[in-house]
Amino acid sequence: MQPSERAKPTPVQPALATVFLVASSLAFVAGARAAEPPALKELMPKGMTIGAALSQRQSDGKDGAAAKIVTRHFNSATAENVLKWEKVHPEPGRYDFGPADRYVAFAEKRGMEVIGHTLVWHSQTPAWVFAGKDGAPLDRETALERMREHIGTVVGRYKGRIKGWDVVNEAIDDGAEGTMRKSKWREAIGDDYIAKAFEYAHQADPAAELYYNDYNLTSAPKRAAALRIVNGLKRWGIRVDGVGEQGHWLIDGPSLGDIEATITDVAAAGVKVLITELDIDVLPRDPGMYGADLEKKAKFRAETNLYPDALPKEKQDQLARRYADVFGLFLKHRDKVARVTLWGVTDAQSWLSNFPVPGRVNHPLLFDRQGKPKPAFDAVVETLKKK
Ligand code: G3I
Repeated sequence: MQPSERAKPTPVQPALATVFLVASSLAFVAGARAAEPPALKELMPKGMTIGAALSQRQSDGKDGAAAKIVTRHFNSATAENVLKWEKVHPEPGRYDFGPADRYVAFAEKRGMEVIGHTLVWHSQTPAWVFAGKDGAPLDRETALERMREHIGTVVGRYKGRIKGWDVVNEAIDDGAEGTMRKSKWREAIGDDYIAKAFEYAHQADPAAELYYNDYNLTSAPKRAAALRIVNGLKRWGIRVDGVGEQGHWLIDGPSLGDIEATITDVAAAGVKVLITELDIDVLPRDPGMYGADLEKKAKFRAETNLYPDALPKEKQDQLARRYADVFGLFLKHRDKVARVTLWGVTDAQSWLSNFPVPGRVNHPLLFDRQGKPKPAFDAVVETLKKK
């Protein structure tokens, strides 16, 4: 063959070039798809949902990046704040359901299960709820009536749409004895305020699941107190479906043994185990800071805001291992754990950047401040894939 002949284009060559181009762009698309992280919700074992707490901004539809993550990865939603008493019922006789309605619609639109948080809590409840008449202490009947009216109105509004409610939140003391918290609800009503809350919630939506939710149930006395609540409710024939261990854990505690004991003990009481507010704090914690003066807080902030820009690799890896470990336990007990909810979508939203002192940069979730999956996300994916 003459060189000139070789160079001469044949009608076949453009066709081949087109085939090559199409093939390579298909490969590129496939590559891009493969590069997209797997959807967490598709990797979860059957019967275990994975959720995130949504901020008001997110459920208002003002955070497109978070909405994308939520749509892809989560099949359960919890309202981080918009269903709390102070938000939804700020004044006697005045309800503000706008944000809560948008939250429920946001989750429904994505086919997510919708969780209600929370009905009866000592915190985020306006002062008027606990005020007695003419400056007198709040009496039992008035307190019960306020509680019944609130629960009936809020639960009733979302009847058939909210799958389950954190009916009572954080009723147990932090002390080592596992005693009941001296909340204003308890002061006014007595110990049966918990049972009453569950009764009222059941009356308002007989099909809704009802949960007791608290933190540090990994501590044996606190867990025992939670189980006394559950057993009492059951004994009195009052519906209770699950216990939520919030799961505000640290990078080095609680131990996996204590987490596992929490799962098995709650399940042994005959209710669902829910991990309701999971996040893993990477910064130093000091309980002494909760009530500290501003000067002490500022000093603590300056000393402990260790990763203001990003987590160094070693810490990322440690966080990833911790997430892998706890998800490993959830998988081991897949017959008991019904839901795992992360307390936020990305690190940008986390309450831990303002606790126990405001103004630190924390990194407790699976997605970073830019919404990118972290090594902790990859570790969870790997753990779930091994199931
Ligand atoms: O909405 C107002 C805004 O209008 C105002 O400008 C701003 C100024 O501070 O405050 C905003 O409200 C804040 C709200 O979060 C929304 O960001 C409240 O001050 C703040 O107290 C509130 O904190 C929430 C906290 O509960 C108290 O309700 C956190 O976001 C929320 O993550 C946290 O969640 C709790 C669970 O409900 C129960 N378990 C513990 C968990 C962590 O504390």
